[in-house]
Amino acid sequence: MSVYRWLDERLDLDRLNKKFMRKAFPVHHSFFLGEIALFSFIVLVLTGIFLTLNFEPSSRLVEYRGEKLPAAYASVLYIDSLPFGKVIRSAHHWAANIMVASVFLHLLRILLTGAYKRPREINWILGLLLLGLTVVLAFIGYALPFDAYAVTATQIGYGIAKSIPYLGDWLAQLMFGGEFPSLRSLPRLYALHVLWLPLLLAALIGLHLLIMIKQKHTQPRYAEEVAPGKVLGVPMVPMQATMMGILFLLYLGSLFLLAGALIAHPVEVYGPPGTSTPVLKPEWYFLWLYGLLQMIPSSWQIPLPGGAAITSEFIGGVLIPGLLGLVALLLPFLDTRRTKMRYLELPSQHPMRTSVTVGLLFFFFVATFAGWKEEFGMTNAQLWAMLVFIPLGAWLATYVLIRQIWGKEG
Ligand code: HEM
Repeated sequence: MSVYRWLDERLDLDRLNKKFMRKAFPVHHSFFLGEIALFSFIVLVLTGIFLTLNFEPSSRLVEYRGEKLPAAYASVLYIDSLPFGKVIRSAHHWAANIMVASVFLHLLRILLTGAYKRPREINWILGLLLLGLTVVLAFIGYALPFDAYAVTATQIGYGIAKSIPYLGDWLAQLMFGGEFPSLRSLPRLYALHVLWLPLLLAALIGLHLLIMIKQKHTQPRYAEEVAPGKVLGVPMVPMQATMMGILFLLYLGSLFLLAGALIAHPVEVYGPPGTSTPVLKPEWYFLWLYGLLQMIPSSWQIPLPGGAAITSEFIGGVLIPGLLGLVALLLPFLDTRRTKMRYLELPSQHPMRTSVTVGLLFFFFVATFAGWKEEFGMTNAQLWAMLVFIPLGAWLATYVLIRQIWGKEG
């Protein structure tokens, strides 16, 4: 008896095959963005397993090559000395960058094509949670090598967590094990980074994909012309699986080429944490937040009852991003124009939504630019004027341009 028949008798594989393996996947390049995010997560877990085997999550001082160093920092030097150690650590770093970028671009494609609308509101909300978790996971990853960069960057995040009125101390306790840096910080951050957050992310990604399979993809525009009302696409097995396999191999090849050519975050360049704070900029995806923090003077304080206060850190690090997140969460319930979304909407046919998205992107660009406030010699007043008027200008110009060229109302 063949292995397939043996398993089929017990698990009814034929039924499973008919139900899932014949699922139609639309062929459209923009649908690969979610898959790239998925590949990145898989690679992060695999490369992360190698790192955990050799990493020591502790800031206690140990003797390494004749020097007294924090154990975590020394263990990263040790990982770098292993065969392929540097490349695997570098691949882990770049995969995290690619994951953040692909999740964000995937979100943009969902936003610009209206795929967040009924009945896909749950997947939109799950997606926002996935984006938030991905960014928090990446942020914690930076703390682990415990070099001067890690400690300085994590202190900014620690300050933001602590700034939340009434909840700050509790959140700092939960995420950092209390004060940062302290002996309890690294074990706590490590447990979150290698266990709790990846588990949560894996469960939410699974749910996200199950819902996507159940609801079926929105259909690309060509499907409406070729076979209106029908779900067009290639079956999961063998065609979609083969395409995904090829894409995964291309992904792996490019990632390791990048990881080998540009070794990421060489800890010895920053050195172990010392008494002086190094001048540094956070990763590109945190620069807009860093820029906002630079633009808000510490004099912006509103006292609250019980000795708490709304501080500049809270406004830049929690309030503004939180408001953006809230509007994003509510979007499918605010934009209820065409119900039961089946076909992807063209950005050109929705000038208002497209132009607001462009305006928001410019908001992020200007906030990111504010991260170089000192280098460009900009004042806060200039930056605030830019942050208000450039996105507004971009929104208006895009709206007028789309209406001029395509002439449709959104
Ligand atoms: C870890 C992060 C994520 C992973 C691994 C992931 C994965 C995927 C995959 C593989 C698909 C099917 C292919 C595609 O439509 O691109 C998909 C669809 C979808 N995703 Fe995500 N996603 C993530 C984050 C997000 C985010 C941040 C959002 C939006 C806030 C989102 C909203 C959606 C929606 C609404 C669909 C259905 C799209 C349609 O039917 O056209 N996802 N996701």
